[in-house]
Amino acid sequence: MKVDGRLTRTIWLAADGRSVEVIDQTRLPHAFTTLRLAFMEEAAHAIRSMQVRGAPLIGATAAYGVALAMAADPSDSALDRAVAVLGETRPTAVNLHWALAEMQAVLRNRPQAERADLAYAKAAAICDEDVVTNRAIGGHGLALFREAYEAKGGPKAQGRPLRVLTHCNAGWLACVDWGTALAPIYLAHDEGMPLEVWVDETRPRTQGALTAWELKSHGVPHKVIVDNAGGLLMRQGQVDLCIVGTDRVAANGDVANKIGTYLKALAARDNGLPFYVALPGPTIDWSLPSGDAIPIEERAEEEVTLVTGRTADGGLATVSPYPAGTRASNAGFDVTPARLVTALVTERGVAPASREGLLGLYPERA
Ligand code: MRU
Repeated sequence: MKVDGRLTRTIWLAADGRSVEVIDQTRLPHAFTTLRLAFMEEAAHAIRSMQVRGAPLIGATAAYGVALAMAADPSDSALDRAVAVLGETRPTAVNLHWALAEMQAVLRNRPQAERADLAYAKAAAICDEDVVTNRAIGGHGLALFREAYEAKGGPKAQGRPLRVLTHCNAGWLACVDWGTALAPIYLAHDEGMPLEVWVDETRPRTQGALTAWELKSHGVPHKVIVDNAGGLLMRQGQVDLCIVGTDRVAANGDVANKIGTYLKALAARDNGLPFYVALPGPTIDWSLPSGDAIPIEERAEEEVTLVTGRTADGGLATVSPYPAGTRASNAGFDVTPARLVTALVTERGVAPASREGLLGLYPERA
């Protein structure tokens, strides 16, 4: 996607050919800054501290983290350590473990002298593949958007945009490029479909601000709503469809995504609205029979009790709306049962959220 007119990805190899650059997402939407990661530990820190975030980008960063480790020391023990350290950075997004497994498959049993080159090449390939994958997800999602837009009258229904609700940030910032849930939004907007996107604020980390920043940069009409507003808008007929990303899909089609996703799916079902989940193949955890076993990240209490934002004079301030000493509970994700998901939108096409549906798209997993 473009930032200030320049095509930009979220992660790329630096000019020195060894370190890696990423966008510091903890500073968005207030400042667009980049960070240089020169060591595996810095890649791990970037994931842990959410300087990079979103399931596919977490995987891509972990892949480059292994490459950084191999550039410093290509031994077996350094590889083991990199996999262990990176693998513990965040628990829910399975793309992390997928990427680490891909890296190990390429590096194990290879001469140490070749490992750094192999690791950088594989990390670059994972990134390039993510871009192609997300563009394909966008194409399949676009077909669903066109259907929904035609159903409400299409271009004849002048002034009636397709109204899409999304939760968290499943845009290009969460991936290497394009995004998953936002990819069809970009494609629909680019082909001239009138859209109005409802952007859930997504407390406590306010990833909705990242979505709003992305949509604003691309010129897509949108409004931010508080996390509790979606149900009202759905009842009022102001939502045509919901689409979200995911951090892990179990083999039965249950979906883990940012906390609050489940409530949106319940409201969508109650209002007879489609609830789509967009994902790349590496987000499917074939080893888990259901979403009950998906690990849910418990995050710091301060993310709930403190709020950071821009002040009137342009500075940044962190304040607490709560009485001093208030305790908070902060689960980062929830699981939406497959029965509430209208369909999964993948790079291979659209399928019911079920074991059969997933196997129909990925028969090699049968
Ligand atoms: O905690 P985050 O910001 O990493 O959570 C991100 C999400 O929940 C996204 O919706 C998910 O990773 C899908 S991204 C394509």
